[in-house]
Amino acid sequence: MKLILCFAIKLQYKHFCIQEYEALCTMNGVEPVVLSDTVEFDCDKSPFIAVELKDYQTARKIVSRSVMIKYILDPFSIGCSYEDLFANLDQEKLVDSFLIQKSIKFKIESIKKKIKPKEANEIIGPYGDLAPEEVIFDMKNPDQIYMIVSNPSTEEYYMGIEVACMSWKNNTSNFYAKYDLKARPYLGPTSTSHELAFLMANQAELKEGDLVFDPFVGTGSILIACSALKAFCFGSDIDLRVLQGYSVGKKAKKEIPGADVIDRYDVFANFKYYGLPKPSIIAMDISYPTMLLNKFDAIVCDPPYGVKAGSKKSKLKEKVSEKEPKTKIINDSTFGMLSKKENYGTNEIYHKLLEIASLLLKLGGRLVFLFHTDTEYSSELNEFPTHPCFEFVHSCENPLMRKRSRHSIKMVKILEPGEGE
Ligand SMILES: C[S@@+](CC[C@H](N)C(=O)[O-])C[C@H]1O[C@@H](n2cnc3c(N)ncnc32)[C@H](O)[C@@H]1O
Repeated sequence: MKLILCFAIKLQYKHFCIQEYEALCTMNGVEPVVLSDTVEFDCDKSPFIAVELKDYQTARKIVSRSVMIKYILDPFSIGCSYEDLFANLDQEKLVDSFLIQKSIKFKIESIKKKIKPKEANEIIGPYGDLAPEEVIFDMKNPDQIYMIVSNPSTEEYYMGIEVACMSWKNNTSNFYAKYDLKARPYLGPTSTSHELAFLMANQAELKEGDLVFDPFVGTGSILIACSALKAFCFGSDIDLRVLQGYSVGKKAKKEIPGADVIDRYDVFANFKYYGLPKPSIIAMDISYPTMLLNKFDAIVCDPPYGVKAGSKKSKLKEKVSEKEPKTKIINDSTFGMLSKKENYGTNEIYHKLLEIASLLLKLGGRLVFLFHTDTEYSSELNEFPTHPCFEFVHSCENPLMRKRSRHSIKMVKILEPGEGE
């Protein structure tokens, strides 16, 4: 059936809209069919697209874990003005639909325009008049919501059933609002935003029971999203301070209600606060990986970048004796405090990431990571990293200040290391 999908207008993440929708379709075993022009799509101009989905249930599943989709509508009428919308209405279909509901409500929304109550009543009135006497209007908890939505600047007008909504049947919040960084007990200087973490987890098509790894776990923002989506989480970081909760990682400044369940402010604190399973986390430098489990379904991460989270690697002693293998430094409990660090060359960290991902992911496993670009850099530095074991799937741009951007890059492992050489 043809449905109308409306994205939430979150301009910094607008490039994720279509990719997230397609990933959620794939995860739900549905071929993503977008009937609108996705190349020209710009959420800022119009957040509506037409899609083809087999039923309401699939639409609800997709919306239930989407960050970008605000609602999906089954249109009874499409027009280019309110008058046109009512003129094009299949009135019989609407009346039949009213009759199978116990109670109904009308909702009216216009993109970037506030509709005053008087105007809203005038627009809704003719539709309401079609409702047979036995139909009950319930403004608080209706059985079905009917929507009249429009984007006057593009002359798009739709009237239909609200099939699925970000805050489906409750006007309180969306599914990920409780993970908002602003209300999180344990934070670091570079904690990844909760919205971006959920977007990346969706991009990685994480399913319940998947094994996921974040090699730059920091305060655990990305793994919190993955864990909330019921994946088994593993993480590592070079910096013991952020894992153990001193100097870098910090207790939130303001009082967080319910944070009294936390006995220790470290990388596990937020998991405990949200009632999520404790992830497996180790101190590790990705240049000297000690974890060699090659079964991960996904690697999702925010690699170090810039001054706040500059990429570091352990500086090994020049002479490492036979008795003292390199990994000893990594496993030592004093790791991160005593071992010396040196800076990576620009973009070296991404190549290390691809190398370790080629070892740790299973075939078909997804790698999703943030890559920074700056228009003032040379084109070579702005080039996305590549690796023979990975196929590039897509990237979603997240513009930052001035000439800088982050790109959430998705790759799929297609070969084992050494194959195809
Ligand atoms: C951008 S932060 C990640 C933030 C994290 N997603 C969070 O929510 O807190 C990058 C992290 O990479 C870590 N890091 C830097 N170099 C590393 C290396 N060579 N191996 C492993 N971790 C490293 C830093 O200690 C830092 O915690």
